[in-house]
Amino acid sequence: MHKKSLILKQEDLQHIWHPCTQMSDYEKLPLIPIEKGKGVYLYDFDGNAYIDSISSWWVNLFGHCNPYIGKKLKQQVDTLEHVILTSFTHEPIVKLSSRLVAISPKGLNRVFYADNGSSAIEVALKMSYQYHKNKNQDKKFFLALENSYHGETMGALSVSDVGLYKETFEAILLKSIFTPVPKDASIKAALIAAKELEKILHVRADEIAAFVLEPLVQCAGGMHMYHSMYLQKARELCDAYGVHLIADEIAVGFGRTGKMFACEHAGISPDFMTLSKGLTGGYLPMSVVLTTDTVYDAFYCDYSEQKAFLHSHSYTGNPLACSVANATLDIFEKQNILEKNQRKIRYIAKKMKRFTTLANVANIRQTGMIIALDILGFKPEERIGLQVFTYALQKGVFLRPLGNTLYFMPPFVITYKQIDKMLDVAFEALQNL
Ligand SMILES: Cc1ncc(COP(=O)(O)O)c(C=O)c1O
Repeated sequence: MHKKSLILKQEDLQHIWHPCTQMSDYEKLPLIPIEKGKGVYLYDFDGNAYIDSISSWWVNLFGHCNPYIGKKLKQQVDTLEHVILTSFTHEPIVKLSSRLVAISPKGLNRVFYADNGSSAIEVALKMSYQYHKNKNQDKKFFLALENSYHGETMGALSVSDVGLYKETFEAILLKSIFTPVPKDASIKAALIAAKELEKILHVRADEIAAFVLEPLVQCAGGMHMYHSMYLQKARELCDAYGVHLIADEIAVGFGRTGKMFACEHAGISPDFMTLSKGLTGGYLPMSVVLTTDTVYDAFYCDYSEQKAFLHSHSYTGNPLACSVANATLDIFEKQNILEKNQRKIRYIAKKMKRFTTLANVANIRQTGMIIALDILGFKPEERIGLQVFTYALQKGVFLRPLGNTLYFMPPFVITYKQIDKMLDVAFEALQNL
């Protein structure tokens, strides 16, 4: 093993507390220092290449060390690295904001900046709450879908429903209301869940500021997929009952579902849309909350009326992050990515048919460039995902199952040959269990 790799591993464990990890796991499953990345590949110090089939936590769209994004970032580094976003503005953010508005569902004309997905959720919840307060309405609750995940800060966790992350903190979180998610991707399931939603709104709409959901795919909730009909119904019901609809497109936005934004599948516009991850192509942390003029106007008045939205982060609207976001949008536009992905989506669907021959696989599903399946026959405590991870890594593919769910969310630059390799290795890993 390369000497540098050994040193990094040892020094890392002296100080670094890794996210979402039981640190003692690293005794059995050592860390892998990564030296560099290029395209879909991550390289360790021994020259092993791994296909990043989960886009490094769903952020990377156009490959690691993308030359075009890198060039734009370098230009910005020499121009303006950061400036406070009160009293000042700058070209990258002005440009980016109008571009985001132009590609977002109709009516989302206002853009508020934060610096990670969870913070965007905090912003959307606070804005919705304060909107009602500014209108003299006392709406203290948020409604969310069962099995949802919106991040791990306190507000975001309060509207999440993945026990693993939430249970420990339950006692100190906001008390939210949960409504069933459609149990599968059928229209029937969407309509049944919509009925349950209506029952809750019928009784409690006066107390509910907003209904927050992940459109079409609950990613951290095991890549659970549901029909766009549910979004249409949710929009209608929220309108009818005077409740905001927050579409959390942090994971599914920027082409993951086959369209730029998942809401487009249903032809709806939410009152708030949260974006992060792919927003910067996987380069820098940034998030945005898009909202309507109606929401914006409810905060717009003389300072003395105290209706301003007093929320900020030090790095709000960072010019470097804005410049890579602009570069990301350039690539979407110039390279016709969404159209090109359609062929890849069909190709993957065809290749996934082979997985139906495996007895230990069920519920193979796909929404655009998000593909998942469930591994049968193992209890959660058996941590079967680790076996899949270890096998695939030896074969040059980085897979990171969520419990018993194996999924693929590769960068869009993945080639057909690399898709073959990613799926072949996953198939073998499952065959060998
Ligand atoms: C749908 C959704 N919302 C919010 C978040 C939180 O984003 P972040 O990890 O940047 O805080 C995530 C992260 O995976 C997510 O998938």
